[in-house]
Formats: sequence, structure tokens, C-alpha cells
Amino acid sequence: MCGIIAVIQKRGVVAPFLHQALKRLEYRGYDSVGVTTIAENMLHTKKDKGKIEEVHKRLNLDEMPGLIGIGHTRWATHGAPSMLNSHPHFDCENKIAVVHNGVIDNFMGLRKELKEKGHKFNSETDTEIIPHMIEDFMKEGFDLAGAIKEVTKRIEGTYAIVAVSADDSDKIVCTRDGNPLVIGRKTGASYVSSDIPAFLPMTDDMILLLDGEIASLTTEGVHIEKLSDGQTVDRDTIKISWTADQAQKSGYPHFMLKEIHEQPNAIRDTLRLPSESLEKAAKIIKESENVYMLAMGTSGHAAKAGRHMFASLAGILPSFELASDFQDTVYGALSDKDCIIAITQSGETTDTITAVKYAKQHGTKLVAITNVVGSSITRLADHTILTQAGPEIGVAATKTFMVQLTSLALIALALGEMTGFKESAEIRQKRKALEKLPELVSEVISRNEERARRLASVLYEKPSLLFLGRGISMATAEEGALKLKEIAYNHAEAYSAGESKHGPIALVQDDYPVIFVAPADDTRNRIVGNIMEMKARGATIISVIQKDDDEIAGLSDHVLMIPETTEPEFSIMPYVVPLQLFSYYMALRKDYDPDKPRNLAKSVTVL
Ligand code: G6P
Repeated sequence: MCGIIAVIQKRGVVAPFLHQALKRLEYRGYDSVGVTTIAENMLHTKKDKGKIEEVHKRLNLDEMPGLIGIGHTRWATHGAPSMLNSHPHFDCENKIAVVHNGVIDNFMGLRKELKEKGHKFNSETDTEIIPHMIEDFMKEGFDLAGAIKEVTKRIEGTYAIVAVSADDSDKIVCTRDGNPLVIGRKTGASYVSSDIPAFLPMTDDMILLLDGEIASLTTEGVHIEKLSDGQTVDRDTIKISWTADQAQKSGYPHFMLKEIHEQPNAIRDTLRLPSESLEKAAKIIKESENVYMLAMGTSGHAAKAGRHMFASLAGILPSFELASDFQDTVYGALSDKDCIIAITQSGETTDTITAVKYAKQHGTKLVAITNVVGSSITRLADHTILTQAGPEIGVAATKTFMVQLTSLALIALALGEMTGFKESAEIRQKRKALEKLPELVSEVISRNEERARRLASVLYEKPSLLFLGRGISMATAEEGALKLKEIAYNHAEAYSAGESKHGPIALVQDDYPVIFVAPADDTRNRIVGNIMEMKARGATIISVIQKDDDEIAGLSDHVLMIPETTEPEFSIMPYVVPLQLFSYYMALRKDYDPDKPRNLAKSVTVL
């Protein structure tokens, strides 16, 4: 949520890089955009409301002088999207520029104090207090880094802050507490960003910056210190395995479509996770008294499906809790004998991180499933499973969801082997089925893309749709409904097909679209009953079914087809794909950009 990028380099100009890097970060927010560079001891700024390319057309972001600069793409919290609220923000003399991600909780009091001292404010943001505070501390004799250290003693909240000063223009200074920042290094240049893809075309050498640390970046290197005691931190560079190409559209019209198509490979890569790592996760889970799965959004649907996999394959049924509500549900009933499985593709979702920190206060163990190496959750976890989706840029999660499911399936199998809940021959058979999924998912994509596009052209004007499933397919239905809401803005509701007759059926009348997720598992026959109920009320029936299910095909107005059977524990993986494609084409049919849904951000770093 909010994308930050900064660069300092020996040669050339930084503006075209900043522009491109911001485009790579746009999934973090796109209410407004801004860039400041420094040349000849002066700040040069271009910023405005709107998406990056709109602003670029108006202001030409490529034409700005200087070897050092910062940029920001915003997801508004304090103050509506507008030119004045866009970052960077400045001090009174226009010497200091600051970009910020997060929320400064005590900004009102500080702003009042600064105003009383004569500081002039241009925006309604919480961020603007920071350059004004830096200004005061620099006037007292602190250099830029020293001034920022002083600022961090007074501000409360969560933040990633990056600042430059025309009076100290050979460095970028950044600090974080609760919001992500990663540093990139190559000979003659240093970068800092809220996410790796921003600088990936320039370097794959990354240095982590942790909460409570401050870094000064020059063209020669990076100096990191702890804020608490000023101790220098020596930290090794990490090689990023992602490639710059992975973060490009590679000929696809949208990242979302590209990422849907990347799912077979993402599963394949995740299936190669080392068995020791999976066994370590399984051991923590097996030895725990209570197991909680915590997540938000799409990751929550992976968790819900994961519960079914764990129960069916290992005889262990974890509870699922929304991370945002965990503290208000568990009321401290946690101990060091319990464990949390936290699922978060970004590893940065504040709701999830906050819940995990709360649980850790009770000694609860943590297994993290994330796609981002070095992300905040990995610093808290007793053990991390690193999914192998590569960078996901589309705001609506697709391939990261698929790899979360893959890793949950792998952990469930490892756990099943340990608990002996299923015969080992059966576990072996399930493992084989899992290994076939890349191929199956690939076939599902090719067989359903045109169908999903046609279905979207029939249903795009429907104001509301119902998604129904049973058992693990409930999670599939929920993910299908969420995708549709997120990117096509149709009202969509997912219900257990069993529960649908206890209320939602009242909504159904002629031509009301009801989408059934109906794999050929134990739930299928009961789903047929639910289809009949909906049909009797005039509903338009859309079903996602196995290819040879002629009975349900005969009851349906439209079908999306899964070419082969799979083990019931893994059905969500092929069955969700036609629903992803359907949402994608619904968004397109309605002329919305599926990569940048309104009001959403890929990584939500506020509570
Ligand atoms: C945001 C995104 C969702 C995502 C959720 C959880 O709301 O828009 O796509 O599922 O955050 O993100 P996480 O990174 O924790 O998986």
C-alpha cells in the first residue's frame, strides 16, 4: 500500500528509471504519483493526482535533472487523492523531500506544534509533519540521518520513510517500523523501495532493512544502524531469484492474465520445495495443541481450503480466523503449546503481522507461508515456507493463491505421513495426483479461456451473482466471488450450498445467476439437489464441473469444464481457474483495468 522508490547513482539521470520503477510499483496504490530529484542543490518536483501514465502525459516525468531522486505512488489514507496530498512532501524552504508509507498516529499534535512554531503546511497528510520536523532538527545542526533519528523518537505509528535533502545531497536516508523497505545495490548505484520488482531490472542484489533500523545510501554503499543504540549493522547481500522478465507483461495485455497463465509453472516450482522444510512445518503443527490458520483476503481462502486438506489427509482440523479479528476472537486463550499458520503472499499485511505479534506474546509458534523472501512475516516465524510464484503484480491474487494451496497440500501430505491418518499407499497416490496438477491446470486454462470470455459477455450486466459450493469447494466459491467483486465490481456473494436455502435463496428469481462449484467428489450429489432448488426458482445456472458430468451439464445454462478428475483435497486448484478467467473477462467486458481495481492495493499495510 503506497509504493516507494529512491535511487542514487554516479552517472546519467535518474528520472526515467524512477518513472519506470513507479510503474512497476503501481499495484501498491494509484491515487496519485510524485517524483523529486536533486540537481545543483535544488529540488525538482513533479506530482499530481491520477495514474502514473496520465500524470506522465501531463508533466513528462522523464525530463527531470539529477543523479538522485525519490518517487511515490499513493493509496490515500489521510487526505483525498489530490496534487497537494501527493508525495513527496517538503519542508518550508523546499530543501527536504520525504515519501512515506504507513500512518503516523500522533500527527495531529505534532502538526499543531509545528504550526505554532510557524511551519506552513500544504497538504492534509500525516506525512507532511516529517519534512518539517527534519527541517527543525537540521537547523539545530543534525545531518539528514541524525535529524531522521530524532524524528523517529517523536512519531508513533507504522512507517517506511525515505528522505533526501538538497543540503546533504550525496545520500538517501530511510528508516522503517512496520512497513516494508528493501535496499538494492550495484556498483555505482543504490536503490531503496517498498518492493523488489521496482529495482529488479537494475540489480538482483538485495539487502534487508528491518524495523527499527536506519540506512544511509550513497553511490558507494549502504550504512545501516540500529535506531535504539546506534550500533552498525553488518548485513549480507541476498541474491534475488526472481528475474526482471517475470515482472513484465511479456506480451499479455494484463498482468492478471499473464499470472493466470503462469500458474502451472508456479505450482511446478513450488512442488520442488525441500521435503525437510515441509517436514519441519508439519512437525511444529503435529506437536501443537491448537492450530490456527490466520490470513486475509485471498490468502484466507487458501487457509480455508488448507483446513480441508489437513483434516482429510492428516486428521488435524485447524481453526481458521481472519487475522484482523483474531485478537477479538481468541481473548488471550493462547499458549506456547499452540501454533499459528500465517498465510500472506506479501508477508507484509498489517492485519496478519499484528495478529501474529499478538500470538507470539503468548509464546505461540509460527509457521509462515509467504511468497516474499525477507518479508516481515519471515522475521517473526519459527519456520517459513517460501512459495515459488515469482513476483505477482496484478492486484487480484491468482498465482500466489495457487502456490499457497500447493504448499498447504504439501504440508498436509507431510503431516499425513507423520500422523498415519491415511495409509501410506493412499498418501503416495495423493502425492502423484498433486504432481499432475501443473498439467491439469494448464489444460483448464486452455479449455476455459474462450468459454469464460463468452460467459462474461452474457452476464456482465448482472448486478448480483451467487457462488455456491460445499466442503472444500466453499473456499473455491468464496475466491470466485471475491475475484469478481474485486475487479469487475459486480456484487457477488459466496455461500455454502447447504446454507443457501436458509436465506440467500430469497434473492433468487428469474434469470438470477447462480454459479455452482461442483467437482465429482462426495458433495456432488447434494449439490445436484441445490441446483434443482435454484432452477425451480428460475435461476440461471452456471456450473463448474468435471467434463463428463452430463447430468449437471444438462441442468445448467452454462458450464465451465475441468477436463479430468483430481483428488478431492486438491480440487480447488483446477476449479478456481475458470472463475479467475471469468472475473478477468467480466472486468474487460465492463472496460475496467483488472490490474488496478479501484480502492484496492496489493499489500495492505494499515489496520
Ligand atoms: C489485499 C489484496 C488481496 C490479498 C490480501 C491479503 O487485500 O488486495 O489480493 O489477498 O491483501 O494479502 P497477503 O499479502 O497477506 O496475502
